[in-house]
Amino acid sequence: MEMQRITRARLDGFSTFRLPASARELVLLEDAGDLRVLLDTGQPVLILGGGSNTLFVGDFDGRVIVNQLTGIDSEVVDRDRVLITAGAGENWHSLVRWTLDRGLWGIENLALIPGLVGAAPMQNIGAYGVELAHCLHAVQAFDRNSGEIVWLKADDCALNYRHSRFKGEDAGRFVILAIQLELFMHGTPVLEYPSLIDELARHGQSQPGDSRTVAAAVMRIRKRKLPDPEHIPNAGSFFKNPVIENSQAQALIDANPELPWWPDKPGCTKLSGGWLIDQLGWRGKTVGDAQVYEKHALVLINRGNASGADVVELARRIRADVERNFNIVLVPEPVLVGGAL
Ligand code: FAD
Ligand code: EPU
Repeated sequence: MEMQRITRARLDGFSTFRLPASARELVLLEDAGDLRVLLDTGQPVLILGGGSNTLFVGDFDGRVIVNQLTGIDSEVVDRDRVLITAGAGENWHSLVRWTLDRGLWGIENLALIPGLVGAAPMQNIGAYGVELAHCLHAVQAFDRNSGEIVWLKADDCALNYRHSRFKGEDAGRFVILAIQLELFMHGTPVLEYPSLIDELARHGQSQPGDSRTVAAAVMRIRKRKLPDPEHIPNAGSFFKNPVIENSQAQALIDANPELPWWPDKPGCTKLSGGWLIDQLGWRGKTVGDAQVYEKHALVLINRGNASGADVVELARRIRADVERNFNIVLVPEPVLVGGAL
C-alpha cells in the first residue's frame, strides 16, 4: 500500500500538548518493511507514537515517522504464564483492556496511561506501584547501527525510573517495532501505592480478586487527579520526581515531615516534585496560555493558545524557584523537540 506522506505537516494534532509547530515531512508507518527506506534520508528523523510525552516547542526540520504498526498475539508458556506480543502502534490502554478481558494480571496498575505501546519501554512507564519493567520480557526493534531487526531482552534495556537505554546511551539508535510482556493467569494485586490502597478500601475492595477491579480503581484516581488530554492539552507530569542523595533528602524531610518520599536506588531517595512545586505556590500560575494545573502542581497544561516559548518560560521559572529554595534541579520528563529548557 502507498505510504501516506505529508509535507510541511502541522504537528499540533500529533502531540497531546497541542503546541503550534510543523515538520518538514510526516509519514505514517504501517509496514515495518518501509522503515529502511524511510530512515535512509539525509534529514533528521523523529519516531512518534501518540505524542503524549513529546512537546513540540519549536518546528522540526526533518521527517516525523508516526508508528502505526499494530497487532496483538498471545502464547501460553505454562499453566500460569502467557507471553503477549503487541505492535508498537497499538494504543497502550487498549492493550491493558485486552489483558483485563482475558483475566490476565500484570499491567492493571498501568491502566489509562496515554500513548502507544512502542513508547512504553522508552521511559519504562510506571504508575501506582508498578513499572513496565515488572513484566516486560523483550523488545523488538530496528537497529539503525546494523540495519537489522533485533530482539532485546528486558534485562538488556537498562530500565530505570522514567529511563531506559533507548532514552540514554542508545538514544536515536532503535526504532521499537513490538514489545513482549510476560503476564499471569493467577496473579496477585500489587497494592503498595497509598492512594490505590485507600481507593480500594473506600469501595470495600481491599483484597481485589481480579485485575479488572484494580484497573478500575486506578482509573478512578487518574480521572480525578489528571487532566484528560482530549479536553485539556497536557503531557502528564512535566518534571520527573527528583532522585537525590539520602543525606540531602533526610535534611529536607526532617525540615518538612509532610514531604512525600520513596526509597530509590541504593543511597538515594525519590521526593515528590509536585509537593516541592506546590509549596512554592505555583498551582494555577501562568505564562501566556501555559499553566500549572490547578489540581496537580507537577502537571503543566495548555489553556488553548500556549506557544512553545510560554511553556519553556513557565518551566524555567518553576525549575529556578525549586533550585533556589530546595537546592534541587528538576529534570523535565517529556521529550522537548525544537527547543530546550
Ligand atoms: P510519544 O510522545 O509519541 O514518544 C515519546 C518518546 O518516545 C519520544 O522521544 C519518541 O521519539 C519516542 N518513541 C515513541 N515511539 C517510539 C518507537 N516505536 N520507537 C522508538 N522511539 C519511540 N507516563 C508514565 O510513565 N506514567 C503515567 O502515569 C503517565 N501518565 C500520563 C498522564 C497523562 C494525562 C499524559 C498526557 C501522559 C502521561 N504519561 C505517563 C506520559 C506518557 O503517556 C507516556 O510516556 C507514554 O508512554 C508516551 O507514549 P506516546 O506513544 O504518546 O509517546
Ligand atoms: N502532591 C502535592 N501537591 C501536588 C501534587 C502532588 O503535595 O500538587 C503530593 C501529594 O502528597 C501526593 C504525592 O505528591 O500524595 C504524590 O502525588 P501523585 O500520587 O499524583 O504522584 P506523582 O508523584 O505526582 C507520579 C508519576 C505519575 C504517576 C503517579 C502515580 C512521575 C514524574 N509522575 O506522580 O506519572 O501516574 O506517580 O504512580 O513519576 C507521568 O509520568 O506523566 C505521570 C502522570
